[in-house]
Amino acid sequence: MIKRIVAIYFSPTGSTKKIALAAAGELAKKQDLPLLEVDFTVPANRSLNFDFGPEDFVVAAAPTYAGKLPNKILPDLKDKLRGLKTPAAALVTFGNRSFDNSLAELVSVLKEDGFVPLGGAAIVCRHAFTDLLAPGRPAEEDLRQAAAFVRKCFDHAEDDRFDPESADLRVDGQADAPYYVPKGIDGQPARFLKAKPLTRKEKCTDCGICARVCPMASINPGDVTDVPGICIKCQACIRKCPEGAKYFEDKAFLSHVAMLEQNFREPKENAFYYLR
Ligand SMILES: Cc1cc2nc3c(=O)[nH]c(=O)nc-3n(C[C@H](O)[C@H](O)[C@H](O)COP(=O)(O)O)c2cc1C
Ligand code: SF4
Ligand code: SF4
Repeated sequence: MIKRIVAIYFSPTGSTKKIALAAAGELAKKQDLPLLEVDFTVPANRSLNFDFGPEDFVVAAAPTYAGKLPNKILPDLKDKLRGLKTPAAALVTFGNRSFDNSLAELVSVLKEDGFVPLGGAAIVCRHAFTDLLAPGRPAEEDLRQAAAFVRKCFDHAEDDRFDPESADLRVDGQADAPYYVPKGIDGQPARFLKAKPLTRKEKCTDCGICARVCPMASINPGDVTDVPGICIKCQACIRKCPEGAKYFEDKAFLSHVAMLEQNFREPKENAFYYLR
């Protein structure tokens, strides 16, 4: 008997959070159960341990980065979350190119962490890099499909015939596949691992929002033009700066964005997988 719904998400630009919270929130309301929200985007939260039991139902959500889970967050997903045959719904978002292997990796990590995934979903969202890929998504229909997916997983977990010991969810993709290699407009690998955002000083009001929203805590709050830490290109600082003062100038990064805009604008479908 499930007694609590949990929504855990990593979501620098907000789409994954929107879907996870809408779907888990709707379920909690319908079932009259408490909802625990765990925002894994906040660095301080990723230093905590989270333990769940068989009476929790967990919606775990993360975006696709280079065809897999964000690699700098992966160790925390592996080490800080612990389930005890805890039923779960695995959800990834992707920016209309492909989710490749991210859902398979999330399902695998959840299994290793002690969770029992009952379903996997990959939902199309606006690409964090550009508004031209999947604009306006998640739309109402995406949210409706995500809520129906989460409810179906929950109903299965509550079914008397459900046996967590024999459950073995299969989804498309390979958990241990290599990362997608981003291409530039010339079709060649675009190398922008070291790229960092720049600041238009004339626009910046020094409000500090960018430093607060960086999931890697990489922006110096005393001087936001200084980014001493690792940048995972998540775009949180770019999209959440109220003045539009942050930008990327790196040629390889911009070439990759141009390639995406040229080749991946045709709207994609969401994908859903369930335990048989
Ligand atoms: C560094 C990075 C890499 C990405 N790689 C992919 C990818 O391989 N395939 C894809 O379709 N979308 C990719 N995206 C788009 C994100 O998966 C998508 O925008 C996601 O919904 C962002 O989630 P958020 O709004 O919760 O931050 C990438 C985005 C970023 C920031
Ligand atoms: S969010 Fe924008 S305006 Fe605010 S400190 Fe950062 S760069 Fe400056
Ligand atoms: S500095 Fe890099 S990691 Fe930090 S919010 Fe900006 S894009 Fe994301």
